[in-house]
Amino acid sequence: LNKADVARQLLTGCATSPAKTRGEAFAPSNIALCKYWGKRDDDLNLPMTSSVSISLGDLGTRTALSMAEGADTVTLNGEVLARDSTFALGVSRFLDLVRPHRAAGFRVETVNSIPTAAGLASSASGFAALALALDDLFGWRLDPKRLSILARLGSGSAARSVLKGFVEWRAGDSPDGMDSFAEALPERWPDFRIGLLTVSSRPKAVGSREAMRRTRETSALYHVWPAIVERDLALIKEAVSARDFDRLGRTAESNALNMHATSLGAWPPVLFWLPESVALMHRIWALREDGPAVYFTMDAGPNIKLLFLAAETAVVKSLFPEVHIIAPFG
Ligand code: PMV
Repeated sequence: LNKADVARQLLTGCATSPAKTRGEAFAPSNIALCKYWGKRDDDLNLPMTSSVSISLGDLGTRTALSMAEGADTVTLNGEVLARDSTFALGVSRFLDLVRPHRAAGFRVETVNSIPTAAGLASSASGFAALALALDDLFGWRLDPKRLSILARLGSGSAARSVLKGFVEWRAGDSPDGMDSFAEALPERWPDFRIGLLTVSSRPKAVGSREAMRRTRETSALYHVWPAIVERDLALIKEAVSARDFDRLGRTAESNALNMHATSLGAWPPVLFWLPESVALMHRIWALREDGPAVYFTMDAGPNIKLLFLAAETAVVKSLFPEVHIIAPFG
């Protein structure tokens, strides 16, 4: 079973020609509080474990789509991309899954509202926006579950970006992945804040796909990861429903550090941190000694994402003047 088979199954009975001339959609970026780390199927982006994220409000990707004969054209933030660029190839490969016939081309215009140097991955919101824009263009009206599965075929974390707020992506266990999709948690937490601290916006040496593969195949520490996730997932969901910020922050920070520890145990080792990342961790831990509940999480890169409540905004701004603050619930 490959991506094309799953896409066909997913879109059974769906229109193969556009319902209108232009489809359009927005999807928010998301940051995992309990990470997705390791695939059980590399082609279908099926995860070893479930994960929980928070979406980033109006930071994300807006994509407009139309059809034209010939090769695809992809525009990113107003610039037409070379056909052989990684981004354009990724988009075209995803569009192959739904292309009505060989000569059918798409015009894709994508605008990212993620601050350009923030070092935030745009693949999650990018593939989610693309899936939603296709749904709009073809008039499929897929349910959120099927939209999440379609987005996942582009990038695992995109499964969570078709939804807003706190989102849980259930790993599922079927080989075709039809039970591996995201669902929104009912809770809203208007005081919840995320602070982006950019350490480096250079492309990373090892991408998340390769890092996950290497960790799963060679790190002895990876064997404990599923149990860590099971514990953390439950704690985070409890913390969200009880509005227990300390528990949420502690669990999310520890979960990220455990994820990074599994990669450090891989061979060749994978370490995403730069000296500046470590310096920031020490500053955050020192700050917490003084009281403010400010925690952090990190993904497959050197940047730090602060987690705090609105009441700590002034402290965070004074200590980290360069921080970009996001209010996920507006
Ligand atoms: O699906 P990808 O390739 O964007 O992988 C995401 C991996 C992490 O960001 C490190 C964790 C996560 O759950 O988002």
